[in-house]
Amino acid sequence: MKSKISFVCQECGYESPKYLGKCPECGEWNTLVEFKVQKSKVKIESQFSSERKEASVKKLSEIAFSEKDRILTGYSEVDNVLGGGIVKGSVILLAGDPGIGKSTLLLQIGLNLSKKNKVLYISGEESEEQIKMRSKRISKDSKDDNFLLASLNDTNQAFEMIEKTKPLIAIIDSIQTMESEDLTGLSGSVGQVRYAASSFIKLAKTLGIPIILVGHVTKEGMVAGPMVLSHMVDTLLFFEGEKLTSTRILRSLKNRFGPIDEVGIFAMNESGLAEIKDPEQLFLGQKNLNTPGSVLTVTMEGTRAFTVEIQALTVFSKLPMPRRVANGIDRGRLELLLAVLQKQCRLPIDAMDVFVNVAGGLRLSDTSSDLAICLAIFSSLKNIPLSKTIAISEVGLLGELRSTPFFEKRVKQAIKLGFKKIFSSKEYKTLPSLINQLGKIKSLN
Ligand code: TYD
Ligand code: MG
Repeated sequence: MKSKISFVCQECGYESPKYLGKCPECGEWNTLVEFKVQKSKVKIESQFSSERKEASVKKLSEIAFSEKDRILTGYSEVDNVLGGGIVKGSVILLAGDPGIGKSTLLLQIGLNLSKKNKVLYISGEESEEQIKMRSKRISKDSKDDNFLLASLNDTNQAFEMIEKTKPLIAIIDSIQTMESEDLTGLSGSVGQVRYAASSFIKLAKTLGIPIILVGHVTKEGMVAGPMVLSHMVDTLLFFEGEKLTSTRILRSLKNRFGPIDEVGIFAMNESGLAEIKDPEQLFLGQKNLNTPGSVLTVTMEGTRAFTVEIQALTVFSKLPMPRRVANGIDRGRLELLLAVLQKQCRLPIDAMDVFVNVAGGLRLSDTSSDLAICLAIFSSLKNIPLSKTIAISEVGLLGELRSTPFFEKRVKQAIKLGFKKIFSSKEYKTLPSLINQLGKIKSLN
């Protein structure tokens, strides 16, 4: 059998026919590893591959496409993120930290689809018994005759199995465990991962079967590992959340078949992942507490607006460098806002330890929460309860309040939940003027 030698960079996946000390793509040294690629044994037996298709051009209007070609998963949070369901023949990479719930989500989708259609779940990580146990936890009364399960990690075997069973969808959990003897190199190495992915992509396109690949990604390993696949797949989904909270967010980072600004929200509980259609129940902490240090804001995730509680705690520091701890917001942003509070509003914050937390395990990158963060810190520092107020505005370095996109939509959401007191750049031009006014009142509630 003919074989070819190639060198693959373990950092970025760059391929070269000869050895190089430094990778020209990512600039890392000594990362190229030799791979022996034998001519693939895998042949696609389908109507397309037997005769070579003649190349031709078509008019756009001649090409038939109907939205019916999408498969609905039964979870509207997932279908919305995908832009209306899974497109036939597409390849989706579901990436996320280990243990975040990727296998659970796909098992749930698989069980749902298997009520009517054949679903193939190939696991290289767990035994069939383990998956059975988990499926019992998720749905007690499922008739799983259509749910086909295989525990293996040979790329070529998985390939043949999809071809033989022709399921409605196939799930590969995970791409890092797939390994082919056509290549030297361990499973999980860039060469193996790329080989497996490109085989599955070819298969999906030829048979019209959508394939979902799972990829474990650690925060440090954004580029290495399965992220080298992001340009190969049609859709890249990210499943994320803080491990210690139950909130999980499904985001789309790339989608050839839909928008990339939708999110799906779930909560992980004893019987799997539950869709959260009304996220306020998670993100609003204790509604009835009137303790200082809590202010609400309305954040946008994709096109959805959520009300979220920001909590702050300030205490006298015993350290020469007081502590600044940020959970759910960027620490740099917190430092910047503290500097504004100190310099522009003359709040004696420099000797205080400051802790800021976003309730419910959400991560805010939206600068419209700036004002709520500042007011929560002020509320804790001065012991003024502000817990039923909403603040929506970006704060500039000079203490000016700035308008935020989708302001009307955010306000509507706040009013829907019954909140009437909204602080924003509409009413106040600067943070010092607002804080001066609030300092004169003891409580707003
Ligand atoms: P899993 O889907 O195995 O994560 P991944 O495939 O992303 O590595 O999820 C594992 C975690 O989810 C594990 O810590 C247990 C938890 N879990 C629940 O809390 N409830 C459940 O019903 C299930 C199935 C898992
Ligand atoms: Mg898993």
